[in-house]
Amino acid sequence: MLLFIDGCLSQRGEESRTRRLAGSFLAAWRAAHPGEEVETVGAETLLSLRPFAPAALDERDALASVGAWEAPVFALARQFRAADEIAVAAPFWDLSFPAAVRTYIEYICARGVTYHYTDRGCVGDCRAGRLTYLTSGGDVERPESLGVLYWRQLAAMCGIGEYAYVFAGGLDLGDGQEEVRLADACALAARLGAREDGHGR
Ligand SMILES: Cc1cc2nc3c(=O)[nH]c(=O)nc-3n(C[C@H](O)[C@H](O)[C@H](O)COP(=O)(O)O)c2cc1C
Repeated sequence: MLLFIDGCLSQRGEESRTRRLAGSFLAAWRAAHPGEEVETVGAETLLSLRPFAPAALDERDALASVGAWEAPVFALARQFRAADEIAVAAPFWDLSFPAAVRTYIEYICARGVTYHYTDRGCVGDCRAGRLTYLTSGGDVERPESLGVLYWRQLAAMCGIGEYAYVFAGGLDLGDGQEEVRLADACALAARLGAREDGHGR
């Protein structure tokens, strides 16, 4: 099962560049994995999540302390842990990604579900072999782009061995080359989607 986290919040609707990037990845992935399931966490779900306040954290800790992992608050973390492969798509907003995606991360980073601690530090417990991050930005790609780094570190923390990303950059430069850059990025996303490896473990 591929888990697709659809953070393509866009004023462009279906014309979203990030969505085009994601579409290229998903079409290639589906062609390479016929009959396999894609589960999507949609934008509506992401936008419906409330950031954790202290009382909600206390409640979650109390559920964890009695092993109540079936509780709804752990549902997104359980889904993330179970995926064979994960793709995240989100536009480059304010140097990283939309707040709704950051809130989603609060839900999947559940100690006891997606990771745990040992005396040597944090150990990831997710099944996925690969996480791919797909983003598009107005500016050109810079080294150490925060969204790219964030998902790289999150994948490592969750025990996901391989990380790949596509940054479709320079899409708001107004130099007439935007379509070329986006098409190149879509081609790279398709190559990543078509790859057989990095799938499950
Ligand atoms: C709220 C908001 C914040 C943005 N912040 C950045 C930014 O920090 N850096 C950047 O290069 N582009 C930024 N952009 C431009 C978008 O990343 C760019 O237009 C992207 O291609 C939008 O993807 P979409 O077509 O899927 O909406 C921002 C756009 C919006 C709407």
